[in-house]
Amino acid sequence: MNTSEIIEGSGKVIDHYRKYILPTYSPDLLLVRGSGSRVWDADDRRYLDFSTGISVCNLGHCHPAVTMAIQRQSGILVHVSNLYINPWQSRLAEKLVNQGFDSAVFFANSGAEANEGMIKFARKWGASHGKSEIIAMDNSFHGRTLATLAATGRSKYRVGFAPDMPGFKHVPFNDISALKQIISDKTAAIMLEPIQGEGGIIPADSSYLKEVRALCDQKNILLLFDEVQCGMGRTGSFFAFQNFDVEPDALSLAKALGNGFPIGAFLVKRDYAETLTAGTHASTFGGSALACAAGCAVIDVMEQERLLENCGKMAEYLTMRLRELATKYAIVKEIRGRGLMLGIQLDRNSAPLLAVCRKHGLLVLTAGEKVLRLMPPLNVSIDEVDEAINILDKSFAELTAIETEQ
Ligand SMILES: Cc1ncc(COP(=O)(O)O)c(C=O)c1O
Repeated sequence: MNTSEIIEGSGKVIDHYRKYILPTYSPDLLLVRGSGSRVWDADDRRYLDFSTGISVCNLGHCHPAVTMAIQRQSGILVHVSNLYINPWQSRLAEKLVNQGFDSAVFFANSGAEANEGMIKFARKWGASHGKSEIIAMDNSFHGRTLATLAATGRSKYRVGFAPDMPGFKHVPFNDISALKQIISDKTAAIMLEPIQGEGGIIPADSSYLKEVRALCDQKNILLLFDEVQCGMGRTGSFFAFQNFDVEPDALSLAKALGNGFPIGAFLVKRDYAETLTAGTHASTFGGSALACAAGCAVIDVMEQERLLENCGKMAEYLTMRLRELATKYAIVKEIRGRGLMLGIQLDRNSAPLLAVCRKHGLLVLTAGEKVLRLMPPLNVSIDEVDEAINILDKSFAELTAIETEQ
């Protein structure tokens, strides 16, 4: 099926989606192509994409270097399994480690799978220290597999999937005394997102993270960071932990690691690299030559195009423009986040605003119930930021005008 066939039969594509796909999602917009910060729908309508496939296409859609790496590698070697060595896996691992985390890497295929492996690492380490419990945070999100659901700090995701996997406890985020109270001699690990994404773009307090690190050191507890959403340069530094000057013992990545090609990973500090030994964890697809070639291309582009620098500059500009907007509209309560992971806290549900933005050609995300989440590509330009601000302005005005009329 080529793009023009899809466009001609777009009604049919949507019917087929409803007929053949399990209704776990409810999308109603058919997108057929993308380039840079833009995507197009079946009527050739263009959108500015500040959702980047939920912080996945951090280099923009179809970045030519990543497309070329995938095309080239798919004609050389796609997959041999982990029964054999492929040259791209260790090359990508080295590139990740060189970003400033002295660690060893396990490759998976998604965020949940990366977290699942990181949880297994913590349990395996815990088993040799007589502890198995993991403390996670209220309001967190770690994925949809059973272990990552159990780690997730929002019970609504677990409804209907009982029994919950045991071994997880939750405490309020950014609350050190609650954490101190719940830690026991059974605590193997503390797991958190340095910036909660799905929960509403809530950054950890630096002082809190430092205290958590100190507690872990004192009590011989592992500190696990889920950087699936906030990692890969999204916050202006390659790893989110680098914003806080607090190093975890292991961290997970996924989303932007392949710029859309599915790949996840967890990285374990070198001191713990002997915990998961041969045969204790595996993945058929994890670390394939094709996925890792895509990942290598992503990191090369990030370095060659100095995307962390651009992210920092654009983040400063976007935040400043958003703060200006916030002074105009009383429904905006706060602008927060780090780098290009930004949330607009509203006094109400954010879904209607998202719909108005889309009508005006801007794709954004919600987070939690009352937050509008902006995650543009890291190579976004100043003109694109201005365009997004204009659309947001128009959308806020429209939403508040509708209210005054009512
Ligand atoms: C912080 C965090 N962890 C884990 C996941 C799960 O990743 P995936 O959907 O690739 O399994 C997500 C997805 O949104 C996430 O934001």
